[in-house]
Parts: sequence; C-alpha cells; structure tokens
Amino acid sequence: MLIDSHAHISDEKFDSDRQDVIARAYDNDVKYIIEVGCDPNEWDKVLEISKNQNIFSMFGIHPHDAIKFNIETKTKLEILLQDKKCVAVGEIGLDYHYDLSPRDVQKNVFIEHIKLATKLNKPVCIHCRSAYSDMLKILKELKELPKGVIHCFSGNLDEAKQVLDMGFLLGIDGPCTYPKSDKLKEVVAKTDIDKLLIETDCPYLAPQAYRGQRNEPSYVVEIAKKISEIKNVPFEEVCKITTDNTIKLFKLGI
Ligand code: NI
Repeated sequence: MLIDSHAHISDEKFDSDRQDVIARAYDNDVKYIIEVGCDPNEWDKVLEISKNQNIFSMFGIHPHDAIKFNIETKTKLEILLQDKKCVAVGEIGLDYHYDLSPRDVQKNVFIEHIKLATKLNKPVCIHCRSAYSDMLKILKELKELPKGVIHCFSGNLDEAKQVLDMGFLLGIDGPCTYPKSDKLKEVVAKTDIDKLLIETDCPYLAPQAYRGQRNEPSYVVEIAKKISEIKNVPFEEVCKITTDNTIKLFKLGI
C-alpha cells in the first residue's frame, strides 16, 4: 500500500475525470490521498472532495496567496482545520522564485500558520522555493516547533540536515526521477528512509515516465521505485516505510 501524501486533485485539470483518477490510484495500491487546500478560493471544493473515504485533507494559505490572509480567512481556516478529515496545516511557507506575494507578508503569514498549527496540535506541510535560508531562520527563532514535512524538498544536503535536526521529514516528488536531479538524488541517498514521505504534488511535476503530462496520485509508485533504486532497498520496503511515516506524521486513523 502507498499513500500520495500531497496532491491537488481539486485542480480544474481533474474536473472531467476526478473519480476515475481516484479509482485508478486505488487500483494501483495508492489507497489514500492527502489533498491540499491552499487557496481560500478552493477550500470548499477540497472540503467536498475530502468526504471521499480514501481522501484526507490539509488546509492553509500558499505563500503565493499570502496576501489573502486576513481576519476573515483566518477564522474560516481555523474551522476547516478542525474538520475530522483534516490532518495538517498546509501548504504554507515561502516562495521567492515567483514572489507572488511580498516577502514580508509571506514571512508573517508563514509564522501565523505555524502558531495555528502549534495551537491545534497539527503537523505542518511546508512549501519552500528559493527561500531556504529565510525558512531556516524563521523555524530556528520559533519557541515551539510543530512536527511536519518540507514538501517537495529541493534544498541541498546541508539544508536537509538542518531541517531533519529540527524533526521535520522530507517530501520527495517527481523531480527525483529526472535525469538532472543529482542534488536531490544525493539527499535521498544520504537520508534515512524513516525520514522520507512520497508525494506527487499533482497535477504538477509528473515523474520522468510521464513527463510533460498531467501528474496524478497513481504515479506516486514511480517515486517509490526511484527511491528503491537510489537507496538499493526493496520496493516493498520503501512502500511500507514511507506509508508508515505518513500515517504516523499525520496521525491517519486507518
Ligand atoms: Ni503542492
């Protein structure tokens, strides 16, 4: 059994065949999906999708949309975070690659979300792109750290060590299957499987075998295969350990 620990099947790219996509994941042993609602405009849709028995949810505001964080969205978010299918606060963090919200706003909103996670005793799912030094600085200055995952990890070995030391796990996605991802492959090779989660981040980042196409939860199998190859550990063991890691971090009642 596998779990896609980070998916966006609420994306409109799945509007015409969402049920088929969920069924195909299940048929490929991807028995559960954690669906991410990280834009306030999509929260209701994600809530609806998470009513499916094989789908869990997480809610938050993506750094791209950090400017949407206000009293109104914060109040709604607190309610969503207490939904029985909601297992985490996310995805939240910093994105200096696109800079779609001002950096100061991104930082403040990131910290607000972490405080919320600590208050509600939920893990966090962190998105960090081209902002590792600021993310590490923020996390190190916090008095209380939640558990969590650095989703779609894209940092170097030193940055991996720093977040692992703080108790976070690393989310591994399609890029580990790309021919030019030497830095990520090194991180995977040198990190204990106990610290890895597998995820698709679909519809983005399709693994090499499907590159250029729409990504979907059933393709998380490709990530497990690649980790098995990089670490020279049997495929079944990679599936079992990463699934256990996911169940434990998000306290999935399955
Ligand atoms: Ni994502």
